[in-house]
This record gives sequence, structure tokens and C-alpha cells, in this order.
Amino acid sequence: MSSVVIVGVQWGDEGKGKITNALSTEADMVVRFQGGANAGHTVSLNGDPIVFHLLPSGISVPGVRCVIGPGVVVDPQALVDEIDMVAEHGVEVGDNFWIDVGAHMVMPHHKAQEAAEEKARGKGAIGTTLRGIGPTYADKHAREGLPIGLFADFDAFRERYVAVASRKNELLTKLYGAEPVDIEGSLERLRGIADRLRQHLADTPGSIRDALSSGKNVIFEGAQGTLLDIAFGTYPYVTSSYTTAAGVSPGTGVPPSMIGKVVGIAKAYITRVGEGPFPTESPDERGDAIRTCGHEMGATTGRPRRCGWLDGVALRYSVDINGADRLIITKLDVLDSFETLPVCTGYRIDGETTTRFPRTVPELARAEPVYEELPGWKTSTRDARRPEDLPAEATAYIKRIEELAGVPVAAVSVGAAAHAVVEFEDIL
Ligand code: IMO
Ligand code: MG
Repeated sequence: MSSVVIVGVQWGDEGKGKITNALSTEADMVVRFQGGANAGHTVSLNGDPIVFHLLPSGISVPGVRCVIGPGVVVDPQALVDEIDMVAEHGVEVGDNFWIDVGAHMVMPHHKAQEAAEEKARGKGAIGTTLRGIGPTYADKHAREGLPIGLFADFDAFRERYVAVASRKNELLTKLYGAEPVDIEGSLERLRGIADRLRQHLADTPGSIRDALSSGKNVIFEGAQGTLLDIAFGTYPYVTSSYTTAAGVSPGTGVPPSMIGKVVGIAKAYITRVGEGPFPTESPDERGDAIRTCGHEMGATTGRPRRCGWLDGVALRYSVDINGADRLIITKLDVLDSFETLPVCTGYRIDGETTTRFPRTVPELARAEPVYEELPGWKTSTRDARRPEDLPAEATAYIKRIEELAGVPVAAVSVGAAAHAVVEFEDIL
């Protein structure tokens, strides 16, 4: 059995898609276990960037079975649009792609509800991606959801959809004064979509367990990041799923005892999209330089990402919560031109210095980072492929990350292309 969970250990956008895609050449199966089209996983396909939102990042690699697990929320319209988009890039989505029947669907009423809720929150808005993620997970737990398996029998789907959407229209119009969703119009569109997606519906947990038992390589591709986890992130400025490695079990039907390695992905710096406290944010020219050089614009919403310095406190917290055995550091090359690099080694909160990551937002908002300045390397790392190709200052920077995180760094990514990686050890 060889499996690896790829999980973000910051606030998302760590490069999980690139790493998953690179490892996929050695994988038999790639499984998404949580999140939905809020994810934006950019991979390089024949030199062109291509963004996956729902399709697992192994979909462009021939011979890899890609699975959307039951813990994912699927916007069926977004999924067929994505299948069409990748077809234009020459990627065929056929019987290499399964969607678990238990995955819940994001419906038009979920997006309408989220838009109304974010508006009603006013200054307290979360800054979500408006992809309907929160309301869909809420309805799943409230037993008002629509698992995609219902598409197997459209009449059964229709009956439940009409009941649920009618109740939701009451909420939209009476509480929020918003427009109701067009139930009949939606049904018409959904019928065509169901016809297209039906061939991919499958009962997947047994197949994933069988793959693991027979020694196949399985990658569990996380979305978002640990600090956006519904239970352990910076609540309420989080997403609505379990983004940590623990999410694999409810998100796939693979028991904890079968989950193997956990690899945390972190950028060499840190970014955040949306609202919420961010201790090491650098809202000055240096943050702007990271944004420009790292192309830090949202792959899903196009919003500029907030940029800042590597946060060793948050990193250690995330490594511990995930039980990560290794880290992969991405976008090291973005730091190539800096004279010095601040790294956060602790927080000062109410006059005390600590390495504990605060569990409440008001406390985190009071945290002032304690920085250590490391020398920059002021030279390009983009062509580095072996550890000895890295400048000594970059190696020292990685070593410091290992000390702060408490786990080794297995690889460093130095560019967008799949091969732009310096490997210190084998991952799979
Ligand atoms: P990937 O997989 C970065 C953020 C949103 C918002 C919060 C809640 O590309 O790393 P949601 O729409 O999920 O309810 O929004 O979570 N967010 C992400 N930030 N990367 C992502 O995904 C994200 N998915 C959601 O910006 O702050
Ligand atoms: Mg992203």
C-alpha cells in the first residue's frame, strides 16, 4: 500500500495542484476528498497554465484513474464546463473519471443563498469565492442536500429538488428579499447535465480501498489549506470542509488505518485570499513585489491575494494537526531577488512571546509576529534541479523551515513546469 495525502498547510494556493500533477505520473489513482469549485489548482500542460476546480489534478496524465470522492461538493454545471475546457486542451475525460454517488451537489439556490448571506454580513463578510460551498455543506449536514447519485434517476432527483428548492425560495424571498431561483428553468438545464454526468457516477470507496490493498499508488489531493479548515482554521474566516488529512476518511470512505504518508505543501512565503487575521501580512512594497513576481491573483475569483512572510508558528501548527511527515516548499524562486527574508518564529500576544498558534480569531488578530531576518540569495533558482544547484542561502532558508516545522522538506519547487522541482528524497 502506498498512498500520500497532499494537503495545504497555509491558507490555500500552496501549489497542491502542481505537486499532485507532478506525482501523478507515478500514480494509479488521484482522489479529491473535500472542497469544490472554490479550489483553483493550476498545472502546466504543454507549457500552458490550466486551472482545475473540480477535476483531480491527475486528469491530464494518461492511465490515471481520477475520482471525486463523497466529501466533495460538486457544482454539476461547473463540472461539465470544466470537462469541455480541458477537452479544448486535448484532455479527454472518459472512463478514467469517477464521481462518487454520495458527493453533494451545489445547486443554484446554494449560490443565491451565499450571495444573499455575504451581502447581509456587510462588513463582517467572509470574502468567500461565492461558489455555493458553505450553503451546500450546511444543507448536507441539515439533511436538505442533493447527492449526485440522484442523477441516476432524474424523476427521483426532480421530486427532491423541487421540494428542497421551494423551501429555499421561501428563505431567499422572505428573509433576504432576494430573487427566487427559477426551479423549472434549472431543472431543464440540469436534465442535460445529468445525461452527461451519469456515465461517471460510481460507488467509489471499495475501489479506492482495493487499490490501496493491492499496492497501487493513490494520491489524495487536498483543496484549500489547514488554516481554512472548518474545525481547526481561523473560524469563521474558513471554508466549510475538513481540509486536513483527517478529512480523507469521511471524504473517501478510506479508514484512518489505511491512510499512509501525509505531505504538507507550503509556499516559501504565505498568502491569503478573503478576510480574516493574517499576522505576517506584508501590505507594503515588499508584499507587492511578492504578488507581482508570484502572480498572486486568485485562480478562481481573480482577486489579488494578500501576501506575507513565511509564518513558522502557523506552519508548525498545521504540520502537527495533519501529522505531516514531510513538507514540499513551492515558489522558492519568487524570493530570488530579496536582500533579506523575514521568517516568523513566534508571536507576541498581550506582551508574552509564544510559539502557540491562537485558536480564536480575536487572539490571532492581536498576535504580532517575531521575525528573524535571513539573508536572501539574490540569484535565480529557476534552473536548479539538484540540491547542490541551490545557493547556500536558499539551502539555509530551507533548513530553517525544517527546524521551525519539525519535519524534513522533501522537495522544493522553483517554477511552474512540472519538472521545475529539486527533490531531496522520493515522495511516493
Ligand atoms: P485552493 O484549493 C485559497 C477561501 C476564500 C475565503 C474562504 C471561504 O486553490 O487552495 P469558500 O468559498 O470556500 O466558502 O470561501 O476560503 N478559499 C480559498 N483560498 N485557496 C483556495 O483553494 C480557497 N478556497 C476557498 O477566499 O476566504
Ligand atoms: Mg488555488
